[in-house]
Amino acid sequence: MKQSMIKSTGMAVPDRLVTNDDLAQFMDTSDEWIRQRTGIEQRYWIPEDTKMGAADLGYEASLMALEKAGWTPEDLDFIIFATLSPDIMFPGSGCLLQAKLGLNSTPTLDIRQQCTGFLYGLATADSYIKSGLAKRILLVGGEVHSTGLDKSTRGRDVTVLFGDGAAAVCIEGIDTDDSVGVLASALHSDGNFAPALMTELPASRLPQRIPFDLPLDDARYFPVMDGPAIFKKAVRMLPQVTKEVLEKAGLGVDNIDLIIPHQANMRINQAYGEFLKFPADKIFHNIQKYGNTTAASIPLALHEAMEQGRCGKDGDTVLFIGLGAGLTWGSVLYRF
Ligand code: ACO
Repeated sequence: MKQSMIKSTGMAVPDRLVTNDDLAQFMDTSDEWIRQRTGIEQRYWIPEDTKMGAADLGYEASLMALEKAGWTPEDLDFIIFATLSPDIMFPGSGCLLQAKLGLNSTPTLDIRQQCTGFLYGLATADSYIKSGLAKRILLVGGEVHSTGLDKSTRGRDVTVLFGDGAAAVCIEGIDTDDSVGVLASALHSDGNFAPALMTELPASRLPQRIPFDLPLDDARYFPVMDGPAIFKKAVRMLPQVTKEVLEKAGLGVDNIDLIIPHQANMRINQAYGEFLKFPADKIFHNIQKYGNTTAASIPLALHEAMEQGRCGKDGDTVLFIGLGAGLTWGSVLYRF
């Protein structure tokens, strides 16, 4: 039977470190507020006046993952790129990344599922591998948020959360009878909650995609979020989808060695862990260093968890989980 195995990971963040105190220089916020409400201490943003998109960061992360896998770009037979901040309106960042890798016919697929982009991407990669459509897949999550954030006090509830970054995973299909690889996945969305977290403009549904009569600092050009509504939804849906994915795999919470959640807010992940009665030290956090890097967040956490020896040994069972704009939420259970 074919199983989808994570062979290697890579990551990249820009070199401009932005602390909470740095943010307080240009908006009414404080290190204390941000740490207390979110756990975030710093994030990385691309340097000002630098042209760098999600595919550029994704490229750096991909080179690291490919090198660790011992693969060349030509070994890939499919590329999946998850992002909510594509480099340009179209074509997708997957195509841009593919060209940077020196390829000219490898298929690419962009995924627009925001914070659950990696989960949707991993479930898609697993389906491609199990159906025999692909054998060696590069899955990338990459975001450049900083160029699209409202850096005035008006946007402080959202702007303090987000960081730029990318992470990549090489996934290989292997033939084995062992219970390893992607054991189960569960994905959901509820578009009724789209207004709870969105960037409305530019909008192709309008007579003018970029309305001529609006100032360029109109609030609709920036992400807006009903933070408390999303918080409540997350602490309800994350335990539910955990139960669902475990049932699909025929396993229990005790079988999980490490939970790697989307890094949206440390308080959400702590509340989720308490609900599950899961040991706090088996839930991985790196939001302190990177903020919310959206599609990059889970693979970036996986990369660091593996580097720190927190997971990666044969038999380690890891639960990936997250909820974000869409709303979308889901979980993938994986065994090394
Ligand atoms: N600095 C200082 N004060 C702030 C800031 C800030 N950065 N942001 C908001 N405030 C103020 C508000 O104006 C409000 O003031 P008021 O009481 O005078 O009106 C007060 O702080 C409390 O605001 P709340 O929004 O109620 O704060 P809350 O405790 O809910 O925390 C937060 C806000 C951190 C955004 C939280 O709601 C959250 O994390 N929500 C979920 C976020 C999430 O998971 N998003 C999905 C993933 S992202 C994606 O999919 C792309």
